[in-house]
Amino acid sequence: MSTGSKPLLSAASGGSPYGSAPVVAFVNEKGGVAKTTSCVNLAAALAQRGHRVLCVDLDPQANATTAFGISVDQAIEREAHCLLTMPRFPLERAITQTGIEGLDLVPGSARLADCDKALVMEVGREGRLRGKLREFYRSVIADKYDAVLVDCPPSLDLLTINALTAATHMVVPVTTKFYALKGIALLGDIVATLHEQLGASVKLLGILVTMFDKNTALDVTIYRLLKEKVEREFGNYVFSTIVTRSVVVSEAEAGGLPVLLREPESPAAGAYSSFADEVVRRLGAHVDSALDASPELTGAPAG
Ligand SMILES: Nc1ncnc2c1ncn2[C@@H]1O[C@H](COP(=O)(O)OP(=O)(O)OP(=O)(O)O)[C@@H](O)[C@H]1O
Ligand SMILES: [Mg+2]
Repeated sequence: MSTGSKPLLSAASGGSPYGSAPVVAFVNEKGGVAKTTSCVNLAAALAQRGHRVLCVDLDPQANATTAFGISVDQAIEREAHCLLTMPRFPLERAITQTGIEGLDLVPGSARLADCDKALVMEVGREGRLRGKLREFYRSVIADKYDAVLVDCPPSLDLLTINALTAATHMVVPVTTKFYALKGIALLGDIVATLHEQLGASVKLLGILVTMFDKNTALDVTIYRLLKEKVEREFGNYVFSTIVTRSVVVSEAEAGGLPVLLREPESPAAGAYSSFADEVVRRLGAHVDSALDASPELTGAPAG
């Protein structure tokens, strides 16, 4: 349980299938939009606030794993691939410590790329992660996590579908490029299908603008168009926090530590910290606020 911090989802809301813990997936089919960076920095920020956090790396590139300084060799036999492909492999066995207090990891590895093939004949393959998480929250009494954050690969494949089926919420990081809204609309269609066919209940927590350059006119224009379009068609879903482009982010990641911990005074760390504040507020408000009555990205118009 949390070390004295408030639960992220209140019991009054009916919580989630995982008690008061949200499971937040970082999703965007587009590559290189800062899904991993946002996931690992939110994890670090929540841990800093005294929450116990589990990060799940569902990407064969294993960037979230290396971002915590964990080598792929360390991850063997203790990783997301086993979790998804082995029916009796419990979540507890896949968990590795990151060295950051309050923050554990289910590492990813290149083997995750085989999951589609390995599970092709399996019934319920889309719900493997959800099943393991539910089992964990049912059976483990102590040491539950206050939040689970799932980093997804840049495709809407079986791994991302596992994440979305398990998730209570999703965050969609976007860069201010022309394709941004098209991707969101496509994701909306997938989520609608998951809701209908697999009983998923994932809701959009918000859209996070990343790698923004305020000196580039195109970035500024696209940001404005994006915000207007999202507000008009979905509601108030664009996080107020904007993460600007800054080289310290990739330097920190290459050094095996999220920027929030490696360069805590940097503007990027400040942005991720205020993003975490917004996430906590939105999760807490979710119960009785506009977000609950919000569309679940269904029928999102393309383009
Ligand atoms: N604010 C930023 N400023 C500068 N570089 C950034 C910023 N955010 C992320 N990056 C860098 O951009 C690259 C892509 O980021 P990241 O890996 O988080 O994206 P991703 O969406 O997870 O990519 P993929 O789709 O391949 O998984 C990384 O090298 C990362 O360090
Ligand atoms: Mg990534």
